[in-house]
Amino acid sequence: MNVVLLVGFMGAGKTSVGQALAARLNWRFYDLDREIERRAGCNIAQIFRDFGEPEFRRRETECLREILQLTRECAVIALGGGALARPENEGLLDLAHAVFLEAPVEELWRRCQEHSTERPLRRDLQQFRELYESRKPGYGKAAMTVQTAGKTVEQVADEVTRRAGLKGSAKEK
Ligand code: S3P
Repeated sequence: MNVVLLVGFMGAGKTSVGQALAARLNWRFYDLDREIERRAGCNIAQIFRDFGEPEFRRRETECLREILQLTRECAVIALGGGALARPENEGLLDLAHAVFLEAPVEELWRRCQEHSTERPLRRDLQQFRELYESRKPGYGKAAMTVQTAGKTVEQVADEVTRRAGLKGSAKEK
């Protein structure tokens, strides 16, 4: 199994870097949040509203495990910002090339503001900062940290490819 797991806080660029990375490697791309939404038939915010955060976390763990078990081909998986919050998920980092996409918290906040995605755990800058600080040690367990501030999505994808020594799959004719 050749799998890259992209981890990091909200606004880290996990989805956009993941898409760019998968495209250049010709690997399959999974966005964990989108997979959870597809299975639930509603969006993340709705799951939080209707069932609460613990149920969202349960689904997140279940979905991630299934993707990892089913993936026979090379894949890039973008995790949600809280996917490592459950201690049992930390062990999953060892199964793949785990990459922490890092940026200053003000930059993460600004990037989230630019997008209309509703994020139930993003309230105000103070709360956002505290949550980030509490999660940082977990992200830091990834095998590699890539600073993303001031870099384009392509530059970050390029750096991950180079530093992890990833080789693309041949394109189908
Ligand atoms: C969350 C981050 C979100 C999403 C959910 C919870 C978190 O994903 O999974 O809203 O706990 O930080 P992104 O990191 O892609 O925004």
